[in-house]
Amino acid sequence: MTVAIATAMACSGMYASANETGAPSDVIPKPAEVVMNRGFYNLPDGGVTYFIKGNADAAVRSLLEQGPVNAGAAKKMSSANIRVEIGDDADAEGYTLEVTPKYISIKAAGARGAYYGLQTLLQMTDGGRVRQIACCRISDEPRFSYRGVHFDVSRHFRSLDFLKKQVDAMAQMKLNTMHLHFTDGAGWRMQIDKYPRLTEFAAWRPQRTWREWVDNGSKYCDRSDARASGGFYTKEEMRDLVDYAAQRHITVIPEVEMPGHSEEVLAAYPELSCAGKPYSGSDFCVGKEATFRFLEDVLTEVMDVFPSEYIHIGGDEATKNSWRDCPDCKRRMEQEGLKDVDELQSYLIKRIEKFVNSKGRKIIGWDEILEGGVAPNATVMSWRGTEGGIKSLKSGHDVVMTPGAYCYIDGNQDAPFKEPASIGGYLPLAKVYSYEPVEPGLTPEEASHLLGVQVNLWTEHVADSAHAEYMYYPRTYAIAEVGWSKPDKDYDDFYRRALVKNERMKRDGYNVFDLAQEYGERKESLEEIDHLGRGAKVSYNLPYSKQYTANGDLTLTDGVRGGWTYGDKRWQGTMQDFDVTVDLGEVKPLHYFGATFMHSEGAWVHLPEKVEFEVSDDGVTFTPVATVWCDVPSDFPKLLFKDYGTAVNASGRYVRMHAFRNPRPGAWLFTDEFVIN
Ligand code: ACM
Ligand code: ZN
Repeated sequence: MTVAIATAMACSGMYASANETGAPSDVIPKPAEVVMNRGFYNLPDGGVTYFIKGNADAAVRSLLEQGPVNAGAAKKMSSANIRVEIGDDADAEGYTLEVTPKYISIKAAGARGAYYGLQTLLQMTDGGRVRQIACCRISDEPRFSYRGVHFDVSRHFRSLDFLKKQVDAMAQMKLNTMHLHFTDGAGWRMQIDKYPRLTEFAAWRPQRTWREWVDNGSKYCDRSDARASGGFYTKEEMRDLVDYAAQRHITVIPEVEMPGHSEEVLAAYPELSCAGKPYSGSDFCVGKEATFRFLEDVLTEVMDVFPSEYIHIGGDEATKNSWRDCPDCKRRMEQEGLKDVDELQSYLIKRIEKFVNSKGRKIIGWDEILEGGVAPNATVMSWRGTEGGIKSLKSGHDVVMTPGAYCYIDGNQDAPFKEPASIGGYLPLAKVYSYEPVEPGLTPEEASHLLGVQVNLWTEHVADSAHAEYMYYPRTYAIAEVGWSKPDKDYDDFYRRALVKNERMKRDGYNVFDLAQEYGERKESLEEIDHLGRGAKVSYNLPYSKQYTANGDLTLTDGVRGGWTYGDKRWQGTMQDFDVTVDLGEVKPLHYFGATFMHSEGAWVHLPEKVEFEVSDDGVTFTPVATVWCDVPSDFPKLLFKDYGTAVNASGRYVRMHAFRNPRPGAWLFTDEFVIN
């Protein structure tokens, strides 16, 4: 089929200055291969023409109708300014883009590829603002087929317009999957005809923000309640979103959480819980057939709206608590020969997989679906590190990688003191960019099951849409590049391109993090500290946590101090007191003791109530020298570092530091170095 399209679009007149030249060097994600040629192509101010040969789709057409293209039909290929040739391979995402002094050519095996070729051209010309383009030849294709962004609309509901606006941004970056997390404890967000209380009740709460809601007991309210805050999407709205995304070659994957993270369902339909009472837990009862009826009914309506190949069935963080004592769950385990609650969860997932497969779809779930035995055809979304993903790859399952350490953009992207309140942690742009999904040791066959990558934004602490954009950008640029580009990384070059993109995103109305004003890592962590105790042996009178060992027994005297997050392997953690003795080798005069502790309330990291320092010549009899008290309220809302330092006038060979853990249940204690001088 040969199509000639004439489009009339008014010239904006807002072209960039004449000496600006569009080039592939600004494009995100970086194209696979670029050859620069001599000369330029100038987009004619009077109007650009294009001609399409082959299978253009609506997405390609609509993109041609914006940006650099603005007037006039070409009657034939040889007279068009932009010449597009498209094959009929619907899945092919690659393209070649050639800019010559006389014309621009885009060739692709399918419409998807042509669409991405046009996105590259739009980036090179900044949407047609830059009229002069450097001659070049780009051959481009993605490294991974799955390039996703996750939207948690349960913790805070977002408007349809917000979602569409992010689809626009995703499309520019050749991201192709929107993961819509629309069910969770904080609110159900999609119309389900068979279960109206999901949206008449479980979508509403008396408090607007998640924080206030949790602080007030996590209760829902009727939609008609004057205080009701929240919302849901009608099926019509969801179909609209699906269509809007499809027009941009983006698939929307819906997530229905099960068996955990389901407090809102169980408040609306308490008969689906083990106790049969509202507010009695977060997990569906796996023993009751009613649970399966509900889930299958819901999935049926969800699959009717979302045509995606994958349906996300959650699977994460089920507490499994109520299952142990529930007669229905116990009966199920007995009848099915399930030896523990992990196998009971696996029973549910496998049964749901069978149902979803019977409708011609596939399930994808968080890596906990491995526990108790993974469902045979399941794709695994690896978030608790990459171990689950690696294990799945090795057993032949498809995997999407989204490990927390690189892909959880609910953490701070800059120094926490200048950032809005968040879940904590520190995940700057550079770290997201540094992510390499194919770990050493994977065979090519195993690696071939690695579908791609995704960033996740959980929104407990992200009440407003502008704040959400701030968290997404620029870090989403980095995951777009990890997912698309070759792994030959050059952060300085990426950073430069990210600055360019940020300016354009700001101009286009996105609230991006100001990368140019980045403060960076905690200064203390950038260089090692020398002190009298450096390298001295540390004896632990109480053990540190196996989860946060840092540099093991050497941590507190290795001269290395931690960064903004306790997860950086430089902070040592414990849920007991820190009680350590340092052996200086001989009796020495001592003038200063100090240790810095971290406070991050959202992460249950608290300062010690007090830190006591003692000295001893023989390691047996200790003399108290100083006590430093906590002077920060334990509900202080931001990340904070307190130096429990004190001048002393003492001597000794052994120095004991005893930091008393905050007594609230679940409190952690983190420190990085015991400085002795
Ligand atoms: C998750 O972060 N619970 C998937
Ligand atoms: Zn039960």
